[in-house]
Amino acid sequence: MNRLVCVSNRLIMPRKTAAPGGLAVGVLSAMKHSGGLWFGWGGETIDREPGDPDLHVRGGVTYAAIDLRATDVELYYNGHANSVLWPLFHYLLKDFNFTREQQNAYENVNRLFAQKLHPLLKRDDLIWAHDYHLIPLASRLRELGVTQPIGFFLHIPFPHIEMLRTLPTYAELLRDLTNYDVVGFQTESDLQSFRSCIAHLFGADAILPDRRMRVGERTFVADVFPIGVDVEAVRKEAIEARKTEVVKRMVDSLVGRKLMIGVDRLDYSKGLVRRFTAYQQLLEAFPDNLGRITYIQIAPLSRGDVHAYIEIRNALEQEAGRTNGRFADADWTPIRYLNRNYPHDTLMGFLRASHVGLVTPVRDGMNLVAKEFVASQDETDPGVLILSTMAGAARELTTALLVNPYDTLAVAHAMQAALSMSLPERRERFAAMLDAIRKNDIYAWSRRFTETLESVKR
Ligand code: F6P
Repeated sequence: MNRLVCVSNRLIMPRKTAAPGGLAVGVLSAMKHSGGLWFGWGGETIDREPGDPDLHVRGGVTYAAIDLRATDVELYYNGHANSVLWPLFHYLLKDFNFTREQQNAYENVNRLFAQKLHPLLKRDDLIWAHDYHLIPLASRLRELGVTQPIGFFLHIPFPHIEMLRTLPTYAELLRDLTNYDVVGFQTESDLQSFRSCIAHLFGADAILPDRRMRVGERTFVADVFPIGVDVEAVRKEAIEARKTEVVKRMVDSLVGRKLMIGVDRLDYSKGLVRRFTAYQQLLEAFPDNLGRITYIQIAPLSRGDVHAYIEIRNALEQEAGRTNGRFADADWTPIRYLNRNYPHDTLMGFLRASHVGLVTPVRDGMNLVAKEFVASQDETDPGVLILSTMAGAARELTTALLVNPYDTLAVAHAMQAALSMSLPERRERFAAMLDAIRKNDIYAWSRRFTETLESVKR
């Protein structure tokens, strides 16, 4: 079998804790299974030219971490990736701040990734680039003479042409994507949007049957590969963690109250302010819940140097304070709002101990926390998932309580329905979701993608 080379902006070195959900957990599970090389930014910033990557081998995976210059991180990561592509791809133009300087830094960091990765490549490697930070990577690798198959998977939504063309350099971005052999998306609607972009720029003839596209001399595959989780591993982690001191202490602290939980990176796409509002509306409309439920929101800080993230953090602090100020009692805090991360297994233990899981982003590529919530549940007494229709996961987890996160009153009613749902209904909804995440787990995802990439080579 060919060696798998995964490339992502964020690389989680062994023994470090990954952010909840998301790419790092997914890539790590896939790589632990197949082995290979994982190349990316180790998260360190320096004030000189980056040197060669730091290599660590553990459990069949070679981790190759490069450092980035602080100025590049500011313009490439905080700038073009997270103040341009992120809001644009999530249809949230309020926080879209394009500059040429950021665009140039983005190009330069992709060139640097290609230059540092190139000497590590072997002839039969399959190269798999992940996410919006690395769209130009294939173009830069091809310029260095790389002929191995290169795939790209986008973990976040892909916008329709009417949104994408807000980006002054959208044509370059699309041309860069055509330099991959396989371009993968989370959902059919992301693929449809990509088709709308390719047809707009290159004409309708570029769209071929069988999920292929042709631009000039190049033919490539564009298809849907919804990411999953390692269902058994999450289940085991959750069962074991449920017995640990930290989870037991949390459960004891509830003193019999029902637990609603949200676990999200602190990001404006996650719909947290609206979720807090919905919770207030629940407490207003159904006062029987006062003193009888607890909502824990775990929201580790992320991208803290980006202005929009500073704003959302302030807004959430105010909102949580307002709710607690208004509804709390001497012996009851309605919201416990925590800006910290926990080890993955502890989080899974928390999810298992919850009656209701809240996953209500205003837009999300997939949302692996939704799938982790399902995988972590006790099948004899499962919790209820409240899931936004704006998350990719809603295409598969159709028996969750599906909500529009903008309709906060409807979300409040869904919370009430979840809190009072009968055991037979909870079991029925859970069984269908478990089936869905088992059919399409993290291994099925990486297998399908790498097989497609291999078939291109043939
Ligand atoms: O949602 C996109 C994503 O790449 C996730 O897959 C990942 O967990 C998250 O963003 C990480 O963001 P960052 O690397 O900026 O902390």
